[in-house]
Amino acid sequence: MSGTAQTQEQGFHAGRVIQLAVTAALGGFLFGFDTAVINGAVTPMQEAFGMGAGVTGFVVSSALLGCMVGAYFAGRLSDKIGRVRVMVIASALFTISAIGSTFAVGPVDMILWRVIGGLGVGAASVIAPAYIAEISPAHIRGRLGSLQQMAIVTGIFIALLSDYAIAAAAGGAGNEFWFGLDAWRWMFFTEVIPAVIYGALALSIPESPRFLVHQGREDEARKVLSSVLTEGVDDRISEIRRTIIRDRATSLRDLLKPTGGLLPIVWIGIALSVFQQFVGINVIFYYSSTLWQAVGFTEDDALQQTVITSVTNIVVTVVAILLIDRIGRRRLLTIGSAGMFVALGTMTIVFSQAPLVPNDAGELEPVLSDSAGIVALVAANLFVVFFGMSWGPAVWVLLGEMFNNKIRGTALGIAAAAQWLANFAISSSFPSMAEVGLWFAYGFYTIAALASLFFVLRFVPETRNKELEDME
Ligand code: GLC
Repeated sequence: MSGTAQTQEQGFHAGRVIQLAVTAALGGFLFGFDTAVINGAVTPMQEAFGMGAGVTGFVVSSALLGCMVGAYFAGRLSDKIGRVRVMVIASALFTISAIGSTFAVGPVDMILWRVIGGLGVGAASVIAPAYIAEISPAHIRGRLGSLQQMAIVTGIFIALLSDYAIAAAAGGAGNEFWFGLDAWRWMFFTEVIPAVIYGALALSIPESPRFLVHQGREDEARKVLSSVLTEGVDDRISEIRRTIIRDRATSLRDLLKPTGGLLPIVWIGIALSVFQQFVGINVIFYYSSTLWQAVGFTEDDALQQTVITSVTNIVVTVVAILLIDRIGRRRLLTIGSAGMFVALGTMTIVFSQAPLVPNDAGELEPVLSDSAGIVALVAANLFVVFFGMSWGPAVWVLLGEMFNNKIRGTALGIAAAAQWLANFAISSSFPSMAEVGLWFAYGFYTIAALASLFFVLRFVPETRNKELEDME
């Protein structure tokens, strides 16, 4: 692995570092899988339980509230009991949720199982960035941190494929009886496999050296660091020690300024999270068929388009991995914001120009001409490209590394909780915004993208190639 001329490279054991980072990133795979798996199951489940639109919406979105709670508590818990134990707890939550959802008897317990899965997703979303940042040599920390996003988008894609394969094998719609269960129940059950693998692998990795020093377990920390770095281990340990005032567990008070109010850096983390969601990325994933059908696809083609978008998102993550430690986080985010602004702005204009035509139910719907449809399609995919190479991975990388050792767990938990709340706000408001018009929803995301550009330029610190001990 090489850096730019001014990058100071540390000697490190590449195989070991990658093994640790990939194991932690598996939490991201479950994050992506768990949030996406419900897509294929939702319609047959709605029929099976006889649920109306409101209840169905809540079954889907309740998981996001679980994510918020899970993220908040996982950050603080990981400062007390360690990063690895929180991974094991998350794996247990995923497993319980998968089995519970498989055998759910109605909407009430289904909501419970989805919330339990959400707690796991929230925890995984906090623990992967923290652990990866804490075991990485500084000059490749961005790349290793981006593996989490790679895992998230791969998880989304595999869930989509797995839902599709199960429905197809069972005969089509997901409501057929197949090997003793409704096909849609098998969709939830498949999650048991990655959940158990994640837990087993988490048990095989060492605790984070930063956490160990925090606990006064320096000998163990030295051992872990020596298995990762080939030089400078003792200096690192004393640096970590310097940044931690021992015997005082991190409390919420540590996040406050002497004059009260949250530290500015915590606000920056919260704002990064909120902008990452307010550009509307998950509307593309959660409501893909609304968009693609508006663009002019039939339902079958819409699925194909959803697959293309997910693959695009995976592929462009590679661009981020290649660039993030070379050009830095700020430049990547700036390019991403500018590109998203143009792509989203184009979609807004196209949707606002579409003539309204009555559909079968007599409601007026925008209908795009062929050429306008193509423009919207290209713009939507470009939006995914710009997001996936910048804000998608870079926000998780930054959240893992921008806080100092003392406040990392707690501050990251708060910023990630804000992200899940913002995700909930955007995904639950989309149907009503789309009723006003798709131009209205996309107009809002366009403004968010523009605001995110100014925010980065004004407030986001560059953390590339800096040691965690030198943050703030
Ligand atoms: C980021 C976001 C997540 C989104 C994903 C899609 O990880 O945090 O909400 O689903 O990107 O690329």
